[in-house]
Amino acid sequence: MTGPRTPASTPATPDAQWWRQAVVYQVYPRSFADSNGDGLGDVAGITSRVPYLAELGVDAIWLSPFFPSPLADGGYDVADYRDVDPRLGTLDDVDELIAAAHAHDIRVIVDVVPNHTSDEHEWFRAALAAGPGSPERARYVFREGAGVDGELPPSDWVANFGGSAWTRVPDGQWYLHLFAPEQPDLDWTNPEVHADFEHTLRFWSDRGVDGFRVDVAHGLAKDLLEPYRPSNEQALPLDGSDPLYDRDEVHEIFEGWRRVLDEYDPPRAAIAEAWAPAPRRVLYARPTELGQAFNFDLLEAPFDPTAFRTIIERNLAMSEESGASSTWVLSNHDVVRHATRYGLPDDTDTDAWLMTDGFTPPLDRDHGLHRARAASLLLFALPGSTYTYQGEELGLHEAAAIPRELLQDPKWIRSGHTVKGRDGCRVPIPWTVDGPSFGFGDVPPQLPQPEDFGASSVEALADDPTSTLSLYRAAFATRRQLQRGEHLTWLDTPEHVVGFARHDGWRSYTNFGTSPVALPDGDVLLASGPLTDGMLPGETTVWVG
Ligand code: NOJ
Repeated sequence: MTGPRTPASTPATPDAQWWRQAVVYQVYPRSFADSNGDGLGDVAGITSRVPYLAELGVDAIWLSPFFPSPLADGGYDVADYRDVDPRLGTLDDVDELIAAAHAHDIRVIVDVVPNHTSDEHEWFRAALAAGPGSPERARYVFREGAGVDGELPPSDWVANFGGSAWTRVPDGQWYLHLFAPEQPDLDWTNPEVHADFEHTLRFWSDRGVDGFRVDVAHGLAKDLLEPYRPSNEQALPLDGSDPLYDRDEVHEIFEGWRRVLDEYDPPRAAIAEAWAPAPRRVLYARPTELGQAFNFDLLEAPFDPTAFRTIIERNLAMSEESGASSTWVLSNHDVVRHATRYGLPDDTDTDAWLMTDGFTPPLDRDHGLHRARAASLLLFALPGSTYTYQGEELGLHEAAAIPRELLQDPKWIRSGHTVKGRDGCRVPIPWTVDGPSFGFGDVPPQLPQPEDFGASSVEALADDPTSTLSLYRAAFATRRQLQRGEHLTWLDTPEHVVGFARHDGWRSYTNFGTSPVALPDGDVLLASGPLTDGMLPGETTVWVG
């Protein structure tokens, strides 16, 4: 490297800090827009919708994987990190998408999946062919089994989607996979693995990509020395002593990545998906590493003023201390949509609820959406970056009744059909009121949409000033206009109300209670629901200025 590289399509006035307070819109490519009528969303489909995203007012899009993949895990099983799944398009299509986004001042973040490859990746095929003890196997974690003849898995580690984390190959060795068997884990003590991922970061950065979302960032460093110790991903220790997750050594990997990302002008942004305890999660976000880490605390919290305030306070403090900016998220492709979560009784086990096809307990759709709009508007007033998952701007609910024979999520298969999984938040977006797939494409999509989806389509909502789409558009526009600095000041409020000021009089108040309270002084800029008689109704957010 001789100097910082600036691809031709980078926006004209790059602001190196753009990611600190951005609205990032997550696109799940297979379910966004289908341009070629095969029932699967594709890259050209996304490009065709860039004007929509510009009108929505997002600063960046994050694209979930679009790389060649046998789709054992929705594309998070990558067969080639530096190419495009032919069903989704070509590298030229991605160049066009990046150029179209940049022409609208929208940055592009791509997913990078470093914990595991697909079992159809050329490295894994070579590993199987080369046999035990070969350098090809040393890119993965192959071990002899336990038991008299090695017939038992080397340890009792359990995979995230259920079942053992080890799978045996015909010559008798076992390989490790923290997720599905089709997702063999890489061995990050192997320098070849480091070199290949740095190649991938440069490959996409050279094409003009502005940032990376790093999948399972907390999983790359593992203690694989015998005797194997138990792991508990659900309750990770604060001292980094779990053998599989959130170990201290992982940070050296991301320091190396930061050096690569800083070769570029502007430096490429990155965000860690690291399900680590909050005080350790922010370590991934240090300026010497990735810069940001997903903060899933609000996504996991009930609709409750104390929970919201405590989480916000704690995360802003931790971010400031680490030099990062905070992130906020209520929905993504891995969880039940927040309009639905908030419409179910607080203690609902959503996995169990999905198994009833969404019938029991009954979902109060309007109530859920009403609360979701209040929570989202609160979120958009917070300092830091906000991540919006495709379709939440339409107020979409979970598609809870997908016929079982059409479910695709490995959770469904690996759980022995006891957990339906994540397909319900991944059904294709409705763009129009009618049509074979509500404007998603020309044919019915691979994952069926609910029959009433047309009422939530972009076409149905775009010109309705009370729609969730109009609320998101107005919120993003107002935020862009007003936002400065990364601080907030808490305000004295009645019980059940969370209120804070950003600056220059911009304040946000959320009434988490069910009874109205007096509307705060000031001009109403925006409200998540109707305001009546000078009052702020229950479960409503208002911005005043
Ligand atoms: C996190 C991704 O968000 C999820 O969809 C995927 O299944 C796992 N990582 C494994 O890659």
